Amino acid sequence: MDWRENAKKRAAAHAVRHVEEGFVVGLGSGTTVAYALQELGKRIREENLCICGVPTSSQAFLLAVQNNILVTTLDEHPLLNLTIDGADQVDEKLNTIKGMGGALTREKIVASASKVNIIVADETKLVKILGDSQSVPIEVLPFAVSPVVANLKKMGGAPTLREAKKKLGPVVTDNGNFILDVNFGPIEDPAGLSQTLKGVPGIVETGLFVGMADIVYVGGKETVRRLGSKAE
Ligand code: 5RP
Repeated sequence: MDWRENAKKRAAAHAVRHVEEGFVVGLGSGTTVAYALQELGKRIREENLCICGVPTSSQAFLLAVQNNILVTTLDEHPLLNLTIDGADQVDEKLNTIKGMGGALTREKIVASASKVNIIVADETKLVKILGDSQSVPIEVLPFAVSPVVANLKKMGGAPTLREAKKKLGPVVTDNGNFILDVNFGPIEDPAGLSQTLKGVPGIVETGLFVGMADIVYVGGKETVRRLGSKAE
């Protein structure tokens, strides 16, 4: 296993220590979260815990089932104890860009239903400023793709429709929408950009997560660092 996989695994293990008996947990998506779900399944088995989770994607749902994590919904549990999720970039204020796995809309809904949000990542995800060499994934209604693209270009963005790898045509999200990966360059004001984007008709959600993460576990070559001071 290369150092990044080890780093992701260790960061994930730290996050899972926050889970307590009876918790309802938001289950994020991505390769780092996959390690967290393995670890959570192990704790459930070994400590005989009663934990259930709200998956943020088909990937998270299948991983939950494989790891014997009971699955529930926001209808049954509108308030979650905590969510563990990954990120594509994390800045010094713990703002993140998410959505390279295409699950950003459900991830944001689940994060906003959580008392505590924990991000797990390896240290290559840490940046001074979001958007430097990372596009912002934006989920868009298929009906609205062309006007949204025109709007994004007017705002100085360079949008690319995300293409599927093993199917012809665009990626279709778990919500039946398309993803535009938009290069804005370095983003000086993530909150302002996020607000402006949410005002564009046809944009369902953006991968800019501003002020949402409480704790970030960052895996390095040897260590795991905790960023954020929220006590839960
Ligand atoms: C999916 C996400 C993921 O959490 C993000 O892409 C990080 O994934 P990974 O842990 O595989 O690097 O936002 O929509």
